[in-house]
Amino acid sequence: MADEDELDRLLDKLTLRTKVRLLTGATTWRTAAEPDLGLGELVLSDGPAGVRGEGWDERRTSVLLPSASALAATWDEHLVEELGGLLASEARRKGVDVVLAPNLNLHRTPLAGRHFECFSEDPVLTGRIGAALIRGVQAHGVAATAKHFVANDTETDRLTVDVRIDERTLREVYLAPFEAAVAAGVRLVMAGYNQVDGTTMTAHPLLTAPLKSEWGFAGVVVSDWGAVRGTLDTARAGLDLQMPGPAGEWGEPLVRAVEAGEVEESAVDDKVRRLLRLAAWAGALGRPRRRARPHLRPRQARALARRAVAAGTVLLVNRGVLPLAPARLGTVAVIGAAAARTRTQGGGSAGVFPQDEVPLLDGIRAGLRGRARVVHVPGPVPDGPPPPLDMVVASDPRTGTPGVLLRVLDADGDELYSAHRRGGRQLEPPVPPGAHTVEISARLHPRTSGTWRIGIAGFGRLSLHLDGRPLLDGEFPPTTDDPAVLHVSPPTRAADAELSAGSTPLLVARRELAPGTGRATVVGARPPGPGTAAALDAASRAAREADVAVVVVGTGEQHESEGRDRSHLTLGPDQDALVHAVVQANPRTVAVVNSGGPVELPWRDDVGALLLAWFPGQEAGGGLADVLFGRAEPGGRLPTTWPARLADAPVTRTRPDAGRLPYDEGIHLGHRGWLRARRTPAYWFGHGLGYTTWAYDELSGPARIVAGEDLTVRVRLRNTGARPGREVVQVYLSRPERSAVDYPERWLAGWTAVRGLPGETVDAQVRVPARALSHWDVTSGGWRTEPGPYRLLAGPSVGELPLTVGVLAVDRCREASDAD
Ligand code: BGC
Repeated sequence: MADEDELDRLLDKLTLRTKVRLLTGATTWRTAAEPDLGLGELVLSDGPAGVRGEGWDERRTSVLLPSASALAATWDEHLVEELGGLLASEARRKGVDVVLAPNLNLHRTPLAGRHFECFSEDPVLTGRIGAALIRGVQAHGVAATAKHFVANDTETDRLTVDVRIDERTLREVYLAPFEAAVAAGVRLVMAGYNQVDGTTMTAHPLLTAPLKSEWGFAGVVVSDWGAVRGTLDTARAGLDLQMPGPAGEWGEPLVRAVEAGEVEESAVDDKVRRLLRLAAWAGALGRPRRRARPHLRPRQARALARRAVAAGTVLLVNRGVLPLAPARLGTVAVIGAAAARTRTQGGGSAGVFPQDEVPLLDGIRAGLRGRARVVHVPGPVPDGPPPPLDMVVASDPRTGTPGVLLRVLDADGDELYSAHRRGGRQLEPPVPPGAHTVEISARLHPRTSGTWRIGIAGFGRLSLHLDGRPLLDGEFPPTTDDPAVLHVSPPTRAADAELSAGSTPLLVARRELAPGTGRATVVGARPPGPGTAAALDAASRAAREADVAVVVVGTGEQHESEGRDRSHLTLGPDQDALVHAVVQANPRTVAVVNSGGPVELPWRDDVGALLLAWFPGQEAGGGLADVLFGRAEPGGRLPTTWPARLADAPVTRTRPDAGRLPYDEGIHLGHRGWLRARRTPAYWFGHGLGYTTWAYDELSGPARIVAGEDLTVRVRLRNTGARPGREVVQVYLSRPERSAVDYPERWLAGWTAVRGLPGETVDAQVRVPARALSHWDVTSGGWRTEPGPYRLLAGPSVGELPLTVGVLAVDRCREASDAD
């Protein structure tokens, strides 16, 4: 690795033009190389639930982990660090130097489209879990990226929204996780698309102070993809690297601006030095490139991903139903479309093509093989776009191989490219010169006769033909310039077609490649199902005849995705009716919720047990079956407060007014907002059950502390159940006295996890950092601890804190004079 003097020597060798060239990506995912300097390219790739590699190609699969909310739900920094290592191993396998993760934005509102991709509603939990992931990734020589700096918490108008936020809130809540990331040594920070207080983030003074100056961030500030919109403002600010490239706002205009004295050359030098520093760290400077090999074998990676599923699964309710004892089961009814097609990830740039997905149904079948009968009933047909063609429903019309045929045609319809592909989701078909039309064709293999729904997603001119008959033909111009929507999840247009089981009709989908419409083309088909009433009947019957029913409900692809926020939290009347019907038929019903963020659960008081599976990643089935059958404890505790109804949530506004989105709740987001409004959610932040029970016996800590010092508290608890277990012991703070400072009702100060055998008493040592007792003082522009009494509270969630003890904070000078 080069030292700082060496970086300066290298910098001196570069002309202004070369330096500026290095500051814009060479491609969508690569930085520019400079062979004369021995500087290689750096390859960047999304995260956070897996490492996709360069480009979107379903043949290049990735290990898919549970989504970020599920990782935060583990409250387990060791595990998250290991998972960071897994991402690094994947990065190695794919030749990636920089992983674009973690996402440190907060769950400010449950409607946020990228809720699943962010850790939690709490700055401390987000900061600690994010730092753990960063340590895990970077320990293997792969760089992590803390994104999206800052206050990019919702999707509506995300490219332009101006978030209005006061200084104290910014520091204590939204910047705090990034501060923790920098303290953990993160190598890159990504500047978001949004504005904060009137300035776009890629040109924002916050990139300099506090990020680079006060926090000492020595890494690279990279723009979110396409977030640079001006030359001078962004070049003068702390932004270092513009992505993607090679086109952009810097290049020649920046060279001219430096020559004209409008931008200091030293500003350019600082950016290049940071880039060189990163390259040196990543092994891309000064010596022949040798990337390390992946350190995990596929089997090890899968086992770890499976462990993570159980660790993040939250058991919200258990009326004696879980864990299930396979030896005592005759028949298990597994109900719901999501049981067979478990949604393993959210939509948008975070998406990867998983290696092999194990749906919950397969996990249950594997767990009960040779012991109990498993019956699956899909329930009502889910709404939303038809699922992409896969290797079951489609085959290549030329070869008969399962999958589809992808062709690119010129304006005369002549073939420029053709390839067999695995499915109907083609986001980056090649575009050879003269490319005019993308065509996806397949023979369909319907197993059910009736009305199928056939769909095509993409922008521009689209058509669908079935055995030569037109199903759909029209012009659908882009409705947004958001890259996630344009390139990853464009809307679907669909039409009905009558198909009979056993036939092999030829489906041909075409999309013309007009400028500005992107390349994404997705073709899907959904089989007919019974009507809702018949589907509910079948579900009730199966539940009644089973010893236990497991009903899986969740959000569809159209709900949780980057590029748009949700407008409601319901699962829809059909899914709610399904759970009602199943519970009525069999009280021994386990409801499994397959969503990335909160949904309303109107039947939650009726079910036998309620599990949140989140988006569990590719090992969904194995990991959830481990929990259901008690091979693993459900390790999850809520990283965000779960409303009973959207209307109760403290923050529901996502739509800016005249371009502005005020964060009026200030520091009172999430559980702090619920507490202040005296509202009761369905489940509090921190809540989650294991398979044993705990008594919280005693809390002790220092009676008095000096402002600015850390403290440690001890929580004594006892495993009062019949099984060994793990408990996440949470410590909160409150300020009992009136004060000039507006404190939250209570706030998370620290946590730790303990394990204990039945009957065992264990002591949890929870470290409370000095920062937990301080607030950002706007007048002095610094952190300050108000002297006086505080209360420490301990328990299993912010809504259940049986132990409390007082602590007096005294000023350092007061302490000194007392000692005299
Ligand atoms: C997203 C980023 C992502 C980038 C590259 C953007 O649209 O906001 O999170 O890393 O695209 O895919």
